[in-house]
Amino acid sequence: MSQLHVRQAKAIKGEIKIPGDKSISHRAIMIGSIAKGETNVSGFLASADCLATIDCFRKMGIAIQTDDSNHVIVKGKGLRGLEKPGQRLYVGNSGTTIRLLSGILAGQDFISEISGDESIQRRPMGRIAKPLRLMGGEIQGRKERDKPGELFPPLKITGGKLNGISYELPVASAQVKSAILLAGLYANGETTVIEKNYSRDHTERMLEHFGAPIAKQGETVRLTPAKELSANEVDVPGDISSAAFFMAAATLIPGSEVRIRNVGLNPTRTGILDILHRMGGAVEVENEVIGSGEPRGDIVVRSAQLRGIKIDGAIIPRIIDEIPIIAVLASQAEGFTEIRDARELRVKESDRIKTIAAELGKFGVTIEELEDGLRILGPAKLKGGAIESRGDHRIAMAMAIAGLVATGPTVINDADCVETSFPGFIDRLQPFI
Ligand code: S3P
Repeated sequence: MSQLHVRQAKAIKGEIKIPGDKSISHRAIMIGSIAKGETNVSGFLASADCLATIDCFRKMGIAIQTDDSNHVIVKGKGLRGLEKPGQRLYVGNSGTTIRLLSGILAGQDFISEISGDESIQRRPMGRIAKPLRLMGGEIQGRKERDKPGELFPPLKITGGKLNGISYELPVASAQVKSAILLAGLYANGETTVIEKNYSRDHTERMLEHFGAPIAKQGETVRLTPAKELSANEVDVPGDISSAAFFMAAATLIPGSEVRIRNVGLNPTRTGILDILHRMGGAVEVENEVIGSGEPRGDIVVRSAQLRGIKIDGAIIPRIIDEIPIIAVLASQAEGFTEIRDARELRVKESDRIKTIAAELGKFGVTIEELEDGLRILGPAKLKGGAIESRGDHRIAMAMAIAGLVATGPTVINDADCVETSFPGFIDRLQPFI
C-alpha cells in the first residue's frame, strides 16, 4: 500500500486539467449499455470506480472498448439486451455502481448477485431495497444483528415485472433517486420521485439526452417508460469534486492563481463555489457552455483570507463530497466554521465525520465531532505528521492539501485509494511539492 509524501508548497500558478466527472462517467456506461446503438464517450474518468462499472456491464454481454485517451465506445443492446451474468458482479469501492445498477437489475428477467470491497459491504442498501421492493423487485442482502431492518451487500436481485411508484426520498440521495428512475424504465406506468432537497441530477439529464420521456417540475421528477433509449455522444466535463482540491490549495497558499479548465458546473454540484464565496474566497467562473446536457466552464481561483461560516440545510447535498476539503479550508479561516445536517457523511466510503475530526486533528486543528457534522476553529498553524486515509480517497486527497500548508513533512498512509476517483492526482500535485 503506497504512501503519499507532501511538503509545504510555494504558490501554485498556471493551468490545471482535471479528469472526467465520476458520476457522469458511471451514467454514460450504464445508460449507454441499455440504449440501442453505439455511444461514444469522451473525457471518461478511467478511475477504479468507473472501470468497475464497465466490468459489470461486460459481464452482462455488453461490448465496451476503451483506449488510453479517455475515449470509450459502448455498444448498447437496448433496454432488453443485458444477459444474465455468469458470475457475481463486483463493484469494488463504488457505491454509485452498486446502487444504480441494482435499479437496472431489478427490471431484468434474470437473477443476479452483486457485491464489492470491504467498505462497500458496510454501506447501507435498505435505502434502495425499500423502493425497489415497492416496485415489485425482489432484493435480498446480508443482515447485521446490531442494525435491524438494514441490508448490506452482497445483494441478490431477482428481477421481474415492475410497477411505477411515487416515492418521496427520506434522505437526499442521487444514488437512490437514480436507482428508482432506472428501474422505472422497466416499469408499467409512471414513476415519480419527490425530493425535498435537490441532489445531483445527472441521471435525469442523461436520460433526457438519450431520449427518455422524463420531466422535472419543482421537487418532482416524472418518468414514463420508454420503448427504447437511443445511443448518443457524451462529452464528460472535469469533475468539480476533484477540482475542489486544487481550488482549496490555490485559496490557501499565498500568491497562488490557477485556472482549472472545463469543469462540470451543474448547479446541483456547485455548492463548493457558493461556500468559497461566503468564506471570502476569490473564485470566478469563465467560458461557461453546455455540452451533452451538462454545463461546464473554467474556474479561476486566487489565494484569499477566509472567514468561518455556518453550513447547513439545502446546500449539504450540493457539497456532500466536498466536506473533507471544506474542513481543511475551515481550519485556515478566521473563527468557527460549523457544518450541520451532514449525518450522511457517516455512511460514505468511511465515517467521514469521525475520520475528518481524527485526521485533521493530527495536524493540530481544534475540531469537534458533532452527531451530524463538525465544528472547526481557525486559523490553525498546521503541523505535518502521519495521516491515515482509512481507505477513503477523499480523505487522502483533502489531507494531502492540508499537508501543502503545514510545516514539516506529511505522509498519507494507504494512499492507493486516490485511484478510486482521481488517477493522476499525485502527478498533478508533484510540481508544487
Ligand atoms: C453520487 C451521489 C452521492 C455522492 C457520490 C456519488 C452519484 O451519493 O456522495 O459520491 O453519482 O449519484 P449519495 O446518493 O449517497 O448522496
